[in-house]
Amino acid sequence: MGSIYNKIDLSENTLNLMKDARKLTDSVFGQGIYIRGIIEYSNICRRDCLYCGIRGSMPKVKRYRLSEDDIVKIAESHIKNGIKTVVLQGGEDPVVNTEYLCRVIKRIKSFDSESAVTLSIGKKSYKDYCALKSAGADRFLIRFETSNEKLYKKLHPDETLKERLKDIYNIKKAGFELGSGFMTGLPGEEDGDTDRNINMLKNLGVHMIGVGPFIPAPGTPLENFYPPSVDRIISIYAKVRLMMPDINLAATTAMDALHTGVRALSFDAGANVLMPNITPYEARENYNLYSRKGKVDKNLSSFSKVSKELKKLGYKALYNERGDSPKFIKEHSV
Ligand code: 5AD
Repeated sequence: MGSIYNKIDLSENTLNLMKDARKLTDSVFGQGIYIRGIIEYSNICRRDCLYCGIRGSMPKVKRYRLSEDDIVKIAESHIKNGIKTVVLQGGEDPVVNTEYLCRVIKRIKSFDSESAVTLSIGKKSYKDYCALKSAGADRFLIRFETSNEKLYKKLHPDETLKERLKDIYNIKKAGFELGSGFMTGLPGEEDGDTDRNINMLKNLGVHMIGVGPFIPAPGTPLENFYPPSVDRIISIYAKVRLMMPDINLAATTAMDALHTGVRALSFDAGANVLMPNITPYEARENYNLYSRKGKVDKNLSSFSKVSKELKKLGYKALYNERGDSPKFIKEHSV
């Protein structure tokens, strides 16, 4: 049989956690999986995060930036096909500033005010977060990456964990549905970091979670370190779900970069969101945050394929639904 379970060793403990996590997920979401489309609009970045394959100081990366028209066109064509959330993700590109993004958001929302726009754009000022919210953006993804202060500083030479947490606080205050998360298996991670990471998510009151394994990116200072085991990251998905039943948990691309099929496995551990890449191929092949990313992205090339794949796994791709997190809906209903 080609089942992923026959190719990967999972401990008894992890299998039990998965069972409980999936049961809980079923009780909140059924077998539905929300589908979002990600547009990687620019790989130009002023930051120099040690793990990242598009960090500013990488000499060999071919840099690109999509025009406002291109971003809007891609968003509109997918919204027409039933994608009710577009995620705009990019490096911290000084040209794609708040005004640029506000124009793009307004155009997408005027095309379809019911669709959600999610931003994954990095650091801005509180004033900028408010302007982006006023322009119509609904959600914001910003990971804290690690709750270990010392390690955070090492990995992000120009920023402290405190500063990142302040940004996360400001994003929530600006009214966004908030997504955050961390990487597991980062070089320099210490005992207890994973539990602290999960607790930090809980304490931040996030509505959406994206966690994934660290995957070495060629050309970065961390290129020779190893990623964590599948068992470890899958057990973390299950633990996160068991602690937070009413949040949206994404099956992240990095899961498949670890080993093909692991992203599918993360649904069995409680994930309920899938974010296929809808960036044009010429651009996305240069958005290599880590090795094998391009290869993994290609596996989810068409939406009919996504539906078929999910059906085979026993899940149902949900199109034509915004899929706000139950936690956010509860907090905002009067
Ligand atoms: N391995 C895994 N995830 C990575 N990211 C960036 N570089 C890597 C890597 N080498 C993740 C970060 C970031 C998100 C957009 O991609 O967690 O927040």
